[in-house]
Amino acid sequence: MSHLKDVRRWRIGKKKQRRLRDLTGAVVVVTGAGSGIGRETALAFASEGAILVVSDINLDTAQETAELINNPSSVRGSEAVFGGGAHAYQLDVSDEDAVKKFAETVRTRHGVADVVVNNAGIGYSGTFTKTTREAFERVMNINFWGVVNGCRYFSEQMIERGTGGHIVNLSSVVAYTPQKELTAYATSKAAVYMVSDCLRGELVPHGIGVSTICPGIIATNIIKNTGFAGVDADEERKQQDKVDSFYRRRNFGPDKVASQIVKAVKSNKPVVPVSPEAKFSQTMSRLSPGFLRFVARFDSD
Ligand SMILES: NC(=O)c1ccc[n+]([C@@H]2O[C@H](COP(=O)([O-])OP(=O)(O)OC[C@H]3O[C@@H](n4cnc5c(N)ncnc54)[C@H](O)[C@@H]3O)[C@@H](O)[C@H]2O)c1
Repeated sequence: MSHLKDVRRWRIGKKKQRRLRDLTGAVVVVTGAGSGIGRETALAFASEGAILVVSDINLDTAQETAELINNPSSVRGSEAVFGGGAHAYQLDVSDEDAVKKFAETVRTRHGVADVVVNNAGIGYSGTFTKTTREAFERVMNINFWGVVNGCRYFSEQMIERGTGGHIVNLSSVVAYTPQKELTAYATSKAAVYMVSDCLRGELVPHGIGVSTICPGIIATNIIKNTGFAGVDADEERKQQDKVDSFYRRRNFGPDKVASQIVKAVKSNKPVVPVSPEAKFSQTMSRLSPGFLRFVARFDSD
């Protein structure tokens, strides 16, 4: 009997989420929106007529993103994006009190968010033994706890409002593809993947969808800001340049991830591997996890 009740609640929830097929006037929050995937995602939602609340640890870059939306012709010429406007905020997603305050500010100034994209994240590489506890914790605090903080304070408001919503969490291919010398980063992204899977089940009756995004190799600024364990500053810069040039040559832009994020919200998709390598790895993780474990022994460059 109680299962029947559950099914009825899921169906009501699904109907509520469907209102996001039209994003005109929807309030969309994007974290880490000052660069890469976050910036392109903000632009993509703006072009759907959404109102954007963009935040980043770096206020200047968040403001640049807002400017691209609010004053497009001055910046991007004919590529003008017309949305419901954008508002920029400084936010460190790893600071729980700041995220709580930010969610309250968003509700007071712009209304309860309809869509939240927990995008802010950092890269980190290096052997496990050289990855200090401090470095590991920093990665987890931003990539994992930052996502948890965003899910917690925005979903609370969505549940209370009662008209549904959508949460998008940026995970990674390495959530299901082990890779040596990426323990901290991959662990943080696997945790994001699982927290999203669990939360999705819990939020269905409230009409709140959850999408997990696994982008692949995307040409953004991520590598330029990725720390490498156990090397000095010169060597770190060399490693960053080497990997960054590989990412640039791969030439898969963040705009393609952004358009998949918008699609995921509109059609309430649970998990989205974006690039061809992300899709291939997802298939291999199901067909032959042993093969992926074998490949993980090799250097990735
Ligand atoms: N680029 C890729 O290949 C790739 C692949 C898989 C997953 N991702 C994920 O996509 C997300 C976006 O990455 P990107 O490639 O656009 O990188 P990016 O470096 O271009 O952008 C990340 C943004 O997050 C911001 N940021 C960093 N720490 C923050 C904090 N504590 N609080 C708030 N903002 C913070 C940065 O200032 C930057 O603007 C990340 O979660 C990343 O792990 C990227």
